[in-house]
Amino acid sequence: MNPSHTVRRMIRSFAWIAWLLLFVGPASSQTLREAAERSGILVGAAVRPEQLSEPRYAATLASEFGMLEPEDAMKWESLHPSPEKFDFSQADRIVAFAISHQMKVRGHTLVWHQQNPRWLMEGQHSPDQLGRILEQHIKTVVGHYRGKVFAWDVVNEAFDERVAGKFRSTIWYDQPGIGRAIKGNSYIEDSFRWAHAADPEALLFYNDAEAEAMNSKSDAIYAMVQDFRRRGVPIDGVGFQMHLGNLHPDIVSISENIGRFTALGVQVHITEMDVALPVDANGNARSRELQLQADVYRKIAAASCLPHAGCTAIQTWGFTDKYSWIGSHSKHTQGAALLFDREYRSKPSYEGLKQTLRGGRSRAH
Ligand code: XIL
Repeated sequence: MNPSHTVRRMIRSFAWIAWLLLFVGPASSQTLREAAERSGILVGAAVRPEQLSEPRYAATLASEFGMLEPEDAMKWESLHPSPEKFDFSQADRIVAFAISHQMKVRGHTLVWHQQNPRWLMEGQHSPDQLGRILEQHIKTVVGHYRGKVFAWDVVNEAFDERVAGKFRSTIWYDQPGIGRAIKGNSYIEDSFRWAHAADPEALLFYNDAEAEAMNSKSDAIYAMVQDFRRRGVPIDGVGFQMHLGNLHPDIVSISENIGRFTALGVQVHITEMDVALPVDANGNARSRELQLQADVYRKIAAASCLPHAGCTAIQTWGFTDKYSWIGSHSKHTQGAALLFDREYRSKPSYEGLKQTLRGGRSRAH
């Protein structure tokens, strides 16, 4: 072979390898967190404090996610174990982890009907007492994390899924309690005002389940948010949980719903995404379903969230299948719902989401 031809071929091969290293290499080794930054979106995960001391857990969380949210550690039963006592120790661990890894913190949640301490649920408080207890809780907690928690789920799951547009019966609404049912949603409105007073910079969200698509629950939330915006109640966003139990969610309807909320001028966060799959006794899903799951993650990002500039965060409820609430919640018939398997290996769902985010907003659809 002619020596100059060989040299030319060698140069061409080097150029090809250099191109691969420069463009393809870094892109495919890019983390989810870096890919999300390209789309101008935050990607987060719910976390538990005791797992932060597991090295693989901590390393994956810090490198792959730009945001976190305590899965349980900021709920009433954790933060407010007795009437006079607040215990911030577990939630503080999570916040310290986030700060040391330049991650943002979403707070969850200030008003909910679950995971409340017995002293609160069984205290037979009068409406006035309960109103004062709620105000003190919100102001103390939001004040403690002022400047550290950038967004709060102020109220979680206030609507009833069984009756269109009806508020859920809770101590905050109509069970012996805050007793303002006759005034509609005023306990919700007050909660937003108290949170805003304690940290005027924090973004304040209403968060709910099964309201992702156009339906009677999302209609009711829409009407409430529209009313709040008109009257100057300090609400900045709506969280859609996105716990999906089927592999064919109505992507178009979810996009339409997110679009109508962002058109009101509020942000939308996808706050608790997971896609539960049927699993065998060892917790393993079938590979065909893992591929379909990847498609769901990809489509929710590409077709439902990214087309709307106001959809600014996608968060999963945990990140490794090793620790996911789906197992115990489904009596271990479902699982494998997240982006990493139980050995912290990335799954097709991770690749699907990352590729979409890497494409940026303009290429999403
Ligand atoms: C779940 C947690 O993941 C579990 O660890 C806990 O035992 C029960 O609550 N909607 C919410 C979350 O808003 O707070 C719930 O989290 C899941 C459903």
